[in-house]
Amino acid sequence: MDTKTRQQIEETFLEVSRIAARKTIYALRAERNGRSQLAKLFRAIALSEKAQALRLLIQLRGQTGTNQENCRSAFEAEIPSLIQKYEEAAKNAEHAGERAMQSAFSQSARVQRMHLRLKKKLDEDPVKDNPYYVCSFCGFIMEDHAPEKCPICTAPSSRFTSV
Ligand SMILES: [Fe+2]
Repeated sequence: MDTKTRQQIEETFLEVSRIAARKTIYALRAERNGRSQLAKLFRAIALSEKAQALRLLIQLRGQTGTNQENCRSAFEAEIPSLIQKYEEAAKNAEHAGERAMQSAFSQSARVQRMHLRLKKKLDEDPVKDNPYYVCSFCGFIMEDHAPEKCPICTAPSSRFTSV
């Protein structure tokens, strides 16, 4: 691929991913202010932008590998690397007296470590076919049903989305 095109894909991917996340926050604000149609529009645009980001990522990485290669990439490289980054960021935030960020980084590290355990459980029982429930605030994932309260961030069960 042409270098300039590749660079533009990388830059646009980062930008569209960032603004998609912001639309989700805008939607929450619109909802709180009773602007439900505006909230829906922000959510729809966020989904659209996520789709655009994914399309760019597919171009950037080329074809994805086999399930085995993807699992190795996700569970042996990407997630452990992110856990390390979150833990370093949590230490820095603690050192700087940034309590809210220290908590957010630590919670995200815990959530990611739990993802590794979920994969281990799946390996132990590869024929299972259970739903996962994801906390829309902290990202905690629970199998089978949503908890009454998120054990990581205390969000109520209504904040969980099933997969
Ligand atoms: Fe949570």
